Amino acid sequence: MESVRAAARLLADADAERVVVFTGAGMSAESGIPTFRDSLTGLWARFSPEELATPEAFEKDPELVWSWYEWRRAAVEQAAPNAGHEAVAAIGGTLITQNVDDLHERAGSPDPVHLHGSLFAPRCFACGLATDGPVCAACGGRSRPGVVWFGEQLPAGALKRAVEAASTCDLLITVGTSGLVYPAAEIPHVAAMNGAAVVQVNPQPTPLDEVATVNLRGTAATLLPAILKEAAILRRP
Ligand code: OAD
Repeated sequence: MESVRAAARLLADADAERVVVFTGAGMSAESGIPTFRDSLTGLWARFSPEELATPEAFEKDPELVWSWYEWRRAAVEQAAPNAGHEAVAAIGGTLITQNVDDLHERAGSPDPVHLHGSLFAPRCFACGLATDGPVCAACGGRSRPGVVWFGEQLPAGALKRAVEAASTCDLLITVGTSGLVYPAAEIPHVAAMNGAAVVQVNPQPTPLDEVATVNLRGTAATLLPAILKEAAILRRP
C-alpha cells in the first residue's frame, strides 16, 4: 500500500530517539480489550462513566467502582499483547499511552508514559500515596484504582514528559485513539505545531485526520508491523 510506504519512509528517516508513539484504546482492541467509544462494543456504550469513572462515583459507591476496575484488570491479565504492541516496542523512542493496561510493558516497551494512570497501581483516595491493600498504610484512607477519572488532573510528571517529547520529536505515530479526550489529545497537535510529521493508524476517521501527514485506515496489529518491516527494508544500504 502506497501510504504504508510513505509512513515507513518517515520512520526510516527519523532518528529513533526523536520518534513518539501515542496510543489509545484501539491499540489493545485486537488483544480483546474493549475500547471506550466504539458503538456497541465500547465500554461507554455499555456502562455509565458518571457511575464508574468519577471521584463522586467512588465516594458514593466505592465497592461498585472498585469491582468494575477489578473486572477490567482481570480481563487485561487474561489478554496478551498483539503484534501492534510488539511493533511499538521495536520502534522505540518515547511511548505515550492513554491506556491503563500493561500490554505495552509486556510487549517490551520499558517505560511508557501513562497519561491516564494504570489498573495495576492503586493509590490512596485520601492522600494519593501508592497502596497495596484495601487501606492506606500511611493515613488509613481507602484504596482507589490508580487511573485518572473524569474531572481529575493528569499526573503532572507524565504530562510534562509527554509534552516535552511531543514538542521535540521529528515523527509522531498516533495509534487507536479517537482524539476526543483532552488534554491527552493535545499531544499529536503539539508535535504537528512543532514541525513533526504525524502518522495516524486508525480504521475510522478522527479529528486527528487534520494533523496527519500520512493517514492510514486500518488496524494496529496489521499496519504497525507492515510499517516496521517496510522501514527496515528502506533503511538497508
Ligand atoms: P476511544 O474508545 O475513544 O477510541 C478508540 C479508537 O480506536 C477509535 O478511534 C477506533 O476507531 C480505534 N480503533 C478501534 N479498533 C482499532 C484497532 N484494531 N486498531 C487501531 N485503532 C482501532 O479510546 P481512546 O481514544 O483511548 O480515559 O479514549 C481516550 C480516553 O477516553 C481513555 O483513555 C479513557 C476514555 O474515557 C480515561 O479513562 C481517563
